[in-house]
Amino acid sequence: MGSTDYKQPLYATRIDLPAETRAQIIGLLNQTLAFTLDLKTQVKQAHWNVKGLDFYQLHELFDELASELEEFVDLVAERVTALGGLALGTARVAAQVSELPEYPFDILDGKDHVVALADRYAIYAKLVRQGIAKTDDLGDADTADLYTEVSRAIDKRLWFLEAHLQASVVASSNGAAGTTEKATAEKTSAKAK
Ligand SMILES: [Fe+2]
Repeated sequence: MGSTDYKQPLYATRIDLPAETRAQIIGLLNQTLAFTLDLKTQVKQAHWNVKGLDFYQLHELFDELASELEEFVDLVAERVTALGGLALGTARVAAQVSELPEYPFDILDGKDHVVALADRYAIYAKLVRQGIAKTDDLGDADTADLYTEVSRAIDKRLWFLEAHLQASVVASSNGAAGTTEKATAEKTSAKAK
């Protein structure tokens, strides 16, 4: 995981979580913040540059995903400050801390953008799910709940993205030979007999 070794002040608060616990949760949340900011900019990259026959629906879908991630950015950053931490949410910090692979600049077609985003959503979904368990173990049910909310939404978005890719996989895993052409050919020859 990326480094969050910035000098992080811990402000006094009346929240009844020990300072050491708060510091650990703040570190985790700031790491999540960096990943979320990075993912949001990558989704925007897809929103602007996607081309092909599905252009319009993907252009719109990607914008919806980016807006949702912007909400999570705020949710995560404000949990950091609520716990007495310093939210580290600049583009420079995000680039340094996030471990998402850089978005490919040489793709155009809608399917390639959907694959690129699904790959990155999967990494992010795993990070967020780990956040639920970690903050639960640290005794912070509220941050665990925040992670759960984000996790459920991200799983749903991963479904939205993967649904664009699954039709051909289903066809090939159901069919004897994996192609519609061969199935049709078999039906035709059966009829001929
Ligand atoms: Fe736009």
